[in-house]
Amino acid sequence: MKSIGIDLGTCNSCVAEFKDGVSRALVNMVSGKLTTPSVITYPSLLIGQSEKDAPIQNQTVSSFKRLIGRRFTDQEVQEQIKRVDYKIVNQNDQPMVKLLDQVLSPSQISGDFLKQLAKQTNINQNKVVLTVPAYFSHQQKLQTEKAGSIAGLDISRLLAEPTAAALQYDIQSKNKQQNELVMVVDLGAGTFDVSVLEKSGEIYTVLAAAGNNFYGGDDYTTAVKKALADINIEATFKEAEDLKHLLSQAETVDFKGQHISHKHISQQFQALDERLTKPILQTLSDANLKPEQINKILLVGGQTKQMTLENVV
Ligand SMILES: Nc1ncnc2c1ncn2[C@@H]1O[C@H](COP(=O)(O)OP(=O)(O)OP(=O)(O)O)[C@@H](O)[C@H]1O
Ligand SMILES: [Mg+2]
Repeated sequence: MKSIGIDLGTCNSCVAEFKDGVSRALVNMVSGKLTTPSVITYPSLLIGQSEKDAPIQNQTVSSFKRLIGRRFTDQEVQEQIKRVDYKIVNQNDQPMVKLLDQVLSPSQISGDFLKQLAKQTNINQNKVVLTVPAYFSHQQKLQTEKAGSIAGLDISRLLAEPTAAALQYDIQSKNKQQNELVMVVDLGAGTFDVSVLEKSGEIYTVLAAAGNNFYGGDDYTTAVKKALADINIEATFKEAEDLKHLLSQAETVDFKGQHISHKHISQQFQALDERLTKPILQTLSDANLKPEQINKILLVGGQTKQMTLENVV
């Protein structure tokens, strides 16, 4: 039996196939990569963001997941309005994206994106599982399902993102436990999610979820950029991000003729790492648990590859 799963992320999306007990991510045939930036440009419907296509004002839409199923007056939407390069307008308290010559709903945009993503990853079977954050409301889930049907996909179910991470861990792990409490810490590019799950046999239940929708790896990249500027090195966001990745694997890196070490960035990172604590404590208190009751912590999301995070957790 084969099934397809799509992680429609705020910043990056990924399609995976589960077959004969193993799962593997599917390559985007256009970019050659395993993940695709969750960005779409109208009217060409080009998705992703290669280094050569710069976003076009009022035509390129990013972070549309932050709008789906929300009300225009939600704090998240208001925050998003300040950050993006496209117009978000109010239509009956729904946030709508106003492009040059059309006004689109977040579910339409997500649907257009998913359709292109499915095409580019060659999904030839259209029964799929879509993952959604654990905290998604009924309306957010409904609109995500609608996006799936706009894309022409047959959504067999929605799966909570931390549950997907825990299931993936279970597939790979040799000593499976029957009952345990698992904390999933997901620090992505733009969002931070913490969830506590209870595993009972094959079933996972989300006991609590908390996080910060405007905090993630991009803030760490900005911190690297700032640390470089402090020592008079100019870098683009992309250069700073590449350097950040290298520094998660090596103590020092040669960058533009200078040795950059962890010491250079650690102070900036510490301030960011402090923001990890609150949601972690929040989920524990919401689930009525003490830290020592957690049997396992799963670190997922690209930014958890940075060493300093492990120290905090
Ligand atoms: N080796 C690495 N070292 C440090 N950071 C990394 C590494 N690899 C990826 N990242 C960072 O992880 C982030 C991307 O993570 P991920 O792909 O999990 O995000 P995402 O799922 O798209 O985001 P979100 O969950 O917010 O939608 C980026 O900030 C990237 O720089
Ligand atoms: Mg993610």
